[in-house]
Amino acid sequence: MCGIIGYVGKKAASPVLLEGLRRLEYRGYDSAGVAIMQRADLLVRKKKGKIDEGIARELLAHPAPGEIGIAHTRWATHGPPCDENSHPHLDQSGKIAVVHNGVIENYDQLKQRLLKAGHQFHSTTDTEVLAHLIGEHYAKRSAPQSELNPLTQAVCDALREVIGTYGIAVICTEQPDVMVGARRGSPLIIGIGDGENFLTSDANAIVVHTRQVVFLNDYDVATVTRERFDVLNLGTDTANVQISKLEFQAEDSQKGEYAHFMLKEIFEQPRTVENALRGRVDHEGATARFGGLNMSSAELRSIDRVVIAASGTSWHAALVGEYLIEEFAHLPVEVEFAHEFCYRNAPLEKNTVLLVISQSGETADTLAALREARRRGHRALAIVNVVGSTIARESDGGIYMHAGPEIGVASTKAFISTLTILSLLGVHLGRMRMLSAGRASEILKALEAVPKQIETLLQQDDTIKQLAAKYAAAEDFFFLSRGYTFPAALEGALKLKEISYIHAEGYSAAEMKHGPIALIDERTPTVFLVPQDSMYDKTMANLAMIRARKGPIIAVATEGDEAIKKVADDVIFVPKTIEPLYPILTSVPLQLFAYHIAVARGCDVDKPRNLAKSVTVQ
Ligand code: AGP
Repeated sequence: MCGIIGYVGKKAASPVLLEGLRRLEYRGYDSAGVAIMQRADLLVRKKKGKIDEGIARELLAHPAPGEIGIAHTRWATHGPPCDENSHPHLDQSGKIAVVHNGVIENYDQLKQRLLKAGHQFHSTTDTEVLAHLIGEHYAKRSAPQSELNPLTQAVCDALREVIGTYGIAVICTEQPDVMVGARRGSPLIIGIGDGENFLTSDANAIVVHTRQVVFLNDYDVATVTRERFDVLNLGTDTANVQISKLEFQAEDSQKGEYAHFMLKEIFEQPRTVENALRGRVDHEGATARFGGLNMSSAELRSIDRVVIAASGTSWHAALVGEYLIEEFAHLPVEVEFAHEFCYRNAPLEKNTVLLVISQSGETADTLAALREARRRGHRALAIVNVVGSTIARESDGGIYMHAGPEIGVASTKAFISTLTILSLLGVHLGRMRMLSAGRASEILKALEAVPKQIETLLQQDDTIKQLAAKYAAAEDFFFLSRGYTFPAALEGALKLKEISYIHAEGYSAAEMKHGPIALIDERTPTVFLVPQDSMYDKTMANLAMIRARKGPIIAVATEGDEAIKKVADDVIFVPKTIEPLYPILTSVPLQLFAYHIAVARGCDVDKPRNLAKSVTVQ
């Protein structure tokens, strides 16, 4: 998924765009480029590679003055990362530049038609086809058909031919004060400044300039100048334009004194849990409360099944949610990969509720699941971090994480926030059913102790760093557990593999004996989550099977457990808590373990290869 930013104002566009790209880089970093208008010229600079290695140096060597421009940082979908495939792309005339986030599904048919009409292409991207299509409509424009700016009209006409997803910004040398934006399936935001305005795919890119924004909706087309913006909707007559204020500040998306965003976000987690709990714990009623579910108590009581759909780390959180809601509320829960749910035609009964989980609120697979459930008339709730994101706005109700911007590609604080919220949701639903006030109070008290317990865990950072150095050369890892902490083992493996590029497999400790244990030898360390919970004895038995085959063992265990020291090569202790909350406490040391191994291996922790922060393509 890519990042785009556009600027029209009184300042030089180049530094604004470059700084914006740096704040967008976590969304994709195969290549980057800018197009800046200087009178009748379009100055295009674009390079493969990360911003500071590529486009920043290009602009230093070949400055591009001008006060209106668009820019893009790419996560390749069509065409490999190279200079030619970098955005912006120009139309046939060279007067129109386009940056695009999304996938044009019918780009090949459009390209064939344009080739027959004599167009020449320089890249293998779908975006260049879109640029030529807009240029074709712009060139063919007859006398003004309406009061629309000719570039806006050309963009509207071109998009009516497009199948697929897009978040775009477009400029044209013949319309020197105008920038046109449009979205369908990929986020696009207008930033409202004083004598300057912005277009961006992510508010992080502009929060340093303004916190007044408009979150565009699908089929919106915006015409933006220095002084104003107008929005139309291709699908309906008028656009629903609402000016919002960003919830976070510019410094929230800065690294501060931390070496990486991921480390900062790991260390923010005590606050993250506090933010997730804030205003939602009702000790008097021994329950939890939410303001945005948009469901009455009667409707919440009528729910008879919950399907949770998500991707990646959010899917791991969903697996913990299954245990939590089933135990606390005795409600059947089914967890689906979002991309499977959309196409499986899963039977949904009248009182089935879909719950989607997404940090970014823009993951295409998860958005598709939400839309599928709603298309079939089912209520769809969402747990989301990014306020105003597409999933947040298209759900019937939901719960915000309030975790602040999560910039590191490897999700950490959003995962912990989601587990906190799912615990509260389980209590909320449970207290409308069989959950006793006593048990609910015990859960709520244990939740409120978590921030301090995470503080304690973070004090082990140096110890975990040393442990990471000991195992950093391993090429294969297993992460094993059972019960509530089985999903935490999956998540620990994902953290390690996505930032250190080590093959790490999360697996059921009990299932190992049915085959995968054949992979265990003295070169394959196993991280065992073995808290003192109801599965402890069985998990210890599974651990013994690994040990019997000389597999090195790193155990994550409960403080005070003496037996574990006799069977594990290394032990990380976590504070004692109630069983449903061990996924939170055992995940924090695994985040640090993965982080320090990745640093020891010289990996780019915040921007791992091949990845992007939010995947807005299916
Ligand atoms: C997790 O570390 C990854 N970055 C990835 O699996 C991520 O969790 C997944 O793409 C889902 O993202 P979302 O929560 O924003 O929907």
